Amino acid sequence: MSVHSEIKKITTETLRKMKFDKEKITMLTAYDFTTAKMVDAGGVDSILIGDSAANVMAGFETTLPITLDQMIYHTQCVVRGVERALIVADLPFGTYQSNSEKALESAVRMMKEGGAHAVKIEGGIEIEDSIRKIVNAGIPVMGHLGLTPQSIYKFGTYKVRAKEDAEAEKLLSDAKLLEELGCFALVLEKIPANLAKKVSESISIPTIGIGAGPDCDGQVLVYHDMVGMNQGFSPKFLRRYLDLYTEITGAVSQYVKDVKTADFPNKTESY
Ligand code: KIV
Repeated sequence: MSVHSEIKKITTETLRKMKFDKEKITMLTAYDFTTAKMVDAGGVDSILIGDSAANVMAGFETTLPITLDQMIYHTQCVVRGVERALIVADLPFGTYQSNSEKALESAVRMMKEGGAHAVKIEGGIEIEDSIRKIVNAGIPVMGHLGLTPQSIYKFGTYKVRAKEDAEAEKLLSDAKLLEELGCFALVLEKIPANLAKKVSESISIPTIGIGAGPDCDGQVLVYHDMVGMNQGFSPKFLRRYLDLYTEITGAVSQYVKDVKTADFPNKTESY
């Protein structure tokens, strides 16, 4: 028996059962092999190749510029590092909104070439046909409501969404629609905690919150934010578990000093 077969892989069904059993679901982003390996070894249930790669990997201001080819590349890198977690990959802006055929083509490429276990797409009733088409092809879909960064130019800000009744009602009805369409889970980003609680109690599929309070069925954070690599980003919802920016810049400046003073390499570090 190989080592791999002893590892119990997380599936969409596992997440459904976790909600039923009231066990919280954990998700983090990763975009490369080495990080994915560490995140998987840390025991996270699901890894998201988020289009936040556009921000943290490529340095863009928004998530809009990243392409499907680039997301497929990041997904391939992550897949090679993961043994246990469920791997979900974002379909980037412009690859699923225009029509359902294009959406299915994009999702198929992400599964076939990227090796993802599921795709995530942003939006509710506006992308109903795309979700139906992808789900009907046997591809698991994770929804994403609330602050949907691919619509930043429509919103104009990254502030909390659905504070007003009309937007909150639409969000709740979108969540019910996504469940009906067969999505296996749903990200709720930056919405009031009481709305996230109501949504989580109103649908049978798991909700994964980011800035959506403690009553979601699980939580997701961007890896670079939670390990403190991204100093300029400090929203209220973010808990930093490390200060890697300080650690890494400190290590780099020590290395620079050691080389400049000819302290590195020493005799034991030479052949
Ligand atoms: O792209 C991303 O990282 C995401 C998470 C913030 C949920 O969509």
